[in-house]
Amino acid sequence: MESKELLNIKQLPALKKILVIGNGGRENSLAWALEKCSETEEVFVAPGNGGTENHKGCKRLNIHPDQTFDLIESCKSKQIDLVVIGPEGPLASGLADSLRDKGIIVFGPCANGAKLEASKKWAKELMHGAMVPTAKYWAVNNKDDALAILKKVNTPLVVKADGLASGKGVVVPKTLEETIEAINNSFDGKFGSAGYEIVLEEKINGPEVSVFAICDGNQFILLPPAQDHKRLLEGDLGPNTGGMGAYAPAKLLGEEDLENIGKLIIKPTLIELNKRGIDYRGVIYAGLMLTKTGPKVIEFNCRFGDPECQALMPLMGEEFGKTLQACASGDLSKSSDLKIVNSYSACIVAASKGYPEKPELGYEINIDLKKDPTLQIFQAGTELNSNNKLVTSGGRVLSVVGYDDNFDKAFEKAYKAIKQIHFTGIKYRKDIGSQVRQS
Ligand code: AMP
Ligand code: GLY
Repeated sequence: MESKELLNIKQLPALKKILVIGNGGRENSLAWALEKCSETEEVFVAPGNGGTENHKGCKRLNIHPDQTFDLIESCKSKQIDLVVIGPEGPLASGLADSLRDKGIIVFGPCANGAKLEASKKWAKELMHGAMVPTAKYWAVNNKDDALAILKKVNTPLVVKADGLASGKGVVVPKTLEETIEAINNSFDGKFGSAGYEIVLEEKINGPEVSVFAICDGNQFILLPPAQDHKRLLEGDLGPNTGGMGAYAPAKLLGEEDLENIGKLIIKPTLIELNKRGIDYRGVIYAGLMLTKTGPKVIEFNCRFGDPECQALMPLMGEEFGKTLQACASGDLSKSSDLKIVNSYSACIVAASKGYPEKPELGYEINIDLKKDPTLQIFQAGTELNSNNKLVTSGGRVLSVVGYDDNFDKAFEKAYKAIKQIHFTGIKYRKDIGSQVRQS
């Protein structure tokens, strides 16, 4: 009798209705993966995009992430069992806090935990406290101090705006002159208020890899490592973007390396968050540089990466929803082990002409593809116009993800498929994954 009761306490409630917050490709792929749970009847996405309802069981809700009251009302009226918050903005401004205050189960950290991403200075202090390997840094809030440090160090330093700057707040200068220019720009308002406090950082070198830990406050599991391609053009040239393509698992890290990263980086970070009274239920995204002296954190984010998420979701077993629900409930052990498909996943982003500076929008999109269980399209900057035609509405329009047991074939599938997608000005990188292609 007692053990039966205990068993009941351990069980999670049924996961019938899920609400995903956000409108990008990341949220499109999350909704698609969450719907696979056998208990799940409906996945709502607020506000979603033109592709949300292409996925079975997924529906749009016309509510913006900053409409907290309406979101709470919807959660109540639709009896939402789990909310998954995709982007950093709503997390940093406390959406998870407001929902939790009303008893809603949320996957995504509270505002205090989201500072991992929302304040570079705070994150660096936390890394320091946790003894997490990272580049040496100086946090400054005025130009004179910044320039004095630069003079003393006498070598180019990375300049990072402290606050959220839509991925544009980091400058990696080659010369002292470029460093001075970046410092001046930041304090002259180039990144708005996000740049009136900056972190100057020692420049480090090595390949970059993204590691995602799904956390329940104390325990965590690691997803396969992924590699993003942030530059606009082939050969990693051109301006930084949100990400032009990704693949997973990234062979740069073997199983043992990943385990070490858990021990060396994620666990101490969670312990340090706990010390500060933060119950972190969500994703810790560690952007790592694999230096000659070992992995170092170059940034923490408080959410899944975009487009890494699109590459990862096809690899998730159907337990994914229950895993997030268990984390959101504060006990990962309440879900069964998350199975990861033993395949390679290749994600290519199709962007609008003019992206990232000034994307040209409003073009009709034609997708001429047959259904294929090893190929998936995740829409991002798309909308349905008044004639119910799919049109471009954002810089990154959609991503095509191919998966296969063979790394090269996964890419072949994705590249073959993207040729069947048409809109005026479409552009995509032809070399995603090419650094590690087998052939
Ligand atoms: P972040 O927005 O912090 O990921 O930085 C954007 C990019 O700047 C990273 O993907 C790296 O390529 C580069 N970066 C950031 N920090 C450093 C650093 N300390 N040394 C060298 N490159 C860096
Ligand atoms: N793919 C990079 C990011 O999501 O920040």
